[in-house]
Amino acid sequence: MNSPTKRILSSVFGEGGIPLFIYSALWMAGVFALSVFVLGGAFPFAPEARVVLFPSFAAGLLGGIFFPIWGGLASLLALVFLLLIHSGATFVVVTATALPFAGGVVVGSRVSTRSSLAVFAVAGETVRALFASILLSPIAGGDSLALFGGALLSLLHGTGYLFVALYLGEYLFSLMTRPRLSEVCSDGHPLVREMKERAMGTFVHARNVSILAEAAARAIGADFLLARAGGFFHDVGKLWNPTFYGENQRNQPNVHDTVTMDVSRSIIIAHIDEGVRRVRKHRLGKQMEGFVLTHHGDGPVYHFPEEKRKVRDRYPGPVPSTKEEGLVMLADALEAVTRCVSGPLSEEELEEMVRYVIERAKRDGQLRECPLSERELDLVREVFVDCLRNLYHGRVRYRSSDSYGGRKGDAHCVGAEREERKEARYPGHKADDSPDAPESEYH
Ligand SMILES: [Fe+2]
Ligand SMILES: [Fe+2]
Repeated sequence: MNSPTKRILSSVFGEGGIPLFIYSALWMAGVFALSVFVLGGAFPFAPEARVVLFPSFAAGLLGGIFFPIWGGLASLLALVFLLLIHSGATFVVVTATALPFAGGVVVGSRVSTRSSLAVFAVAGETVRALFASILLSPIAGGDSLALFGGALLSLLHGTGYLFVALYLGEYLFSLMTRPRLSEVCSDGHPLVREMKERAMGTFVHARNVSILAEAAARAIGADFLLARAGGFFHDVGKLWNPTFYGENQRNQPNVHDTVTMDVSRSIIIAHIDEGVRRVRKHRLGKQMEGFVLTHHGDGPVYHFPEEKRKVRDRYPGPVPSTKEEGLVMLADALEAVTRCVSGPLSEEELEEMVRYVIERAKRDGQLRECPLSERELDLVREVFVDCLRNLYHGRVRYRSSDSYGGRKGDAHCVGAEREERKEARYPGHKADDSPDAPESEYH
């Protein structure tokens, strides 16, 4: 399939594609049949008015969660088709059913937790029951109160259908819906718990990357829930041989000294494939696989100091192709460089460090397929500096600290001495350096 068609399909049907659309249409048809033909038979309404029992707001919520807004509204067509079969789709029947459905799609596209979803489902279905029973009352040919009472049944089977179809869909299609994205970064997820128990250093690194990526995504209007989860899971491959990574070594002897350089190198690079394997095992979906695959792009392996590198190895790629992947790559590199820096940093040095990391990624072509604009990168730089100031506040040196017993002359680091410090921190930092600057980083 060519890429424009793929783009159109993904903008309408989202991550789950057409199979998910068929899945949700089948659910809707099943619940429609249950409501209208099974439950409806127990009520003395005219057959056309039995649609009052169909929880169309809850069905819309599901569409709004599963698909981008246009895909959710497209499922209205499936609903109208059902109405045509059932009642000839008169104006009043379509209005009483389709309007709450469309409202559900809009609300569902914004809901990001299951608890708020439950609240919206109950409140929305109550309003729908009232609205539909008023509209359908003239054609129902019976007691209006009984019509409303019957419509309120949707609170039971509507919310049940919504949550069962949602959980099952997430599982079957490895789908990262917004509610699921909000949940996976918590201790409740087995991968997060495993990171905490077996690789605390990687957990702390991933959490910081997640904080940086989320803040940057919020600033440029990208999907911050996705960026946050991507930051959390980008290095899960390090759960295989965690002590081979600096952040988990603490004061133990360096395990790299016990194996050959080739073995070390292959273990480090393998954290990409191993990460994809774990993401698949936990059904975290294609987008999370993307973060694992692209967080180093096809850039150099900075893990080893230059003098220990026999060849200039590079990661296999691909490079980031979404804004969120680009943000996680930059946040990851930045967090790693931050850990290589000793001593407190001044505001200017923080800014310089962030600029250095972004420019290095650009020079090395790591952002060549990423849709982040220069304007967005400027915003990202500002947000990263702000976040680092908060994350590593104890390590930020303010000029005014000289007045509180700081070493006399610290302030002149900003001048000549700063150049020496900078060279020590980012060897080969100058504009004409090679893209694969030879510092050793762990990320
Ligand atoms: Fe990392
Ligand atoms: Fe990594």
